[in-house]
Amino acid sequence: MLNVALVGTGNISASHLRAYLQFPERCRVVALCDVVPERAEARKQELGLDDAVVVASHEELLDRQDIDLVSVCTPPSTHAPITIDLLRSGKNVLVEKPMAPSLTDCDAMLRAERESGKVLSVVAQNRFRDDIAVLKEALDSGLLGPVAHLRTDSAWWRGVPYYDLSWRGTWQSEGGGPTLNHAIHHIDLMLWMLGAPQAVAAMMTNAWHDNAEVEDLSVALLQYDRAVAQLTSSVVHHGEEQEIVVQGRDASVAQPWKVRSETTQPNGFPTSNGDTALVARLEELAAAHEKLAHLGHTGQVDDVLAALETGRAPAIGGADGRRTVEVVTAIYQAAIERRTVDLPIPADSPYYTGEGVLENAPRYFTKARSIDDLEGTISVGGEAR
Ligand SMILES: NC(=O)c1ccc[n+]([C@@H]2O[C@H](COP(=O)([O-])OP(=O)(O)OC[C@H]3O[C@@H](n4cnc5c(N)ncnc54)[C@H](O)[C@@H]3O)[C@@H](O)[C@H]2O)c1
Repeated sequence: MLNVALVGTGNISASHLRAYLQFPERCRVVALCDVVPERAEARKQELGLDDAVVVASHEELLDRQDIDLVSVCTPPSTHAPITIDLLRSGKNVLVEKPMAPSLTDCDAMLRAERESGKVLSVVAQNRFRDDIAVLKEALDSGLLGPVAHLRTDSAWWRGVPYYDLSWRGTWQSEGGGPTLNHAIHHIDLMLWMLGAPQAVAAMMTNAWHDNAEVEDLSVALLQYDRAVAQLTSSVVHHGEEQEIVVQGRDASVAQPWKVRSETTQPNGFPTSNGDTALVARLEELAAAHEKLAHLGHTGQVDDVLAALETGRAPAIGGADGRRTVEVVTAIYQAAIERRTVDLPIPADSPYYTGEGVLENAPRYFTKARSIDDLEGTISVGGEAR
């Protein structure tokens, strides 16, 4: 039985806690921490977490040798210091995305993981979705041939008040706009499917979120050896129609699921039917997909618990979290400097550190309103609407 604690009992904490509650034979929640302890108390009551003590600082958890795993669900700028303290005090950590706003922070977290010998996993719950898993299985089957193009629309819509929440909308505490905080889910999937790109070009702006310093829209191109990927990161898209389309040499597949395959006439123009046999094989592959036992955060929590129970690495480790932050950093640098940025980003790049990003980042608007609680329901990363 693993003892679990959680730091930061705001919106996303419910997804973690409900996930732990799915596995009562494997774990129990023994502590909840929030700088606003009434929030932790309310979460405790709401979810009936009778075994959980409430504390106001993660430092109160450090001496507790009985705690095996901690979910860190605080704002992005606090992920590194809290995670490092927890790892160094002997706890395994599941930290929310984005891993941290800067590569220096990510490196420090990875160092703490290495030196403590504990497990660090970074949330990327969309890998635990059947539609995404089918896309990945199609890619891994090799039936598409070499990939030429991948287009991802990380399309979200958030109204102006979204950035009124105190920690959102500034480079200092949110670390960036939807490129870092929303599209990070899709960037993780792109890198999972295609690996790391060689270079990045990008443009960005803030179209109309006038209480935020950060971008509300970026469009980036990722260069691969013989492929180019395209990523839109947005909180200005009505309808939030998210899509991933992969163009292989022999066929294309997409999420939401769609298969296409062209074949050529003698003159190079497409035939009217395409490769119906290949389309049928890809449809069979999709139909044969075995449904995942657990989805989203529950899928990732199940994976992390299994990693701790068996001594294997988690499916999504600290290095996975860092490489998504590296692509985001390259997108920001490319957009700010109006040039193509090569990867990996060298340690002497001015954008490698949080201070460097802060020094260079454009302030599109001044953040004038700051509120601690906003009313309304929330939707979590990539949920079907
Ligand atoms: N995976 C996803 O789909 C998803 C969705 C939403 C948010 N998130 C991520 O989860 C994190 C939290 O987002 P949220 O929407 O839940 O925010 P939130 O503002 O609702 O909750 C954050 C909580 O952390 C507490 N807190 C702040 N600093 C703290 C500290 N030093 N120690 C203890 N508690 C502290 C706050 O009081 C608050 O209750 C962010 O990194 C965000 O990007 C992930």
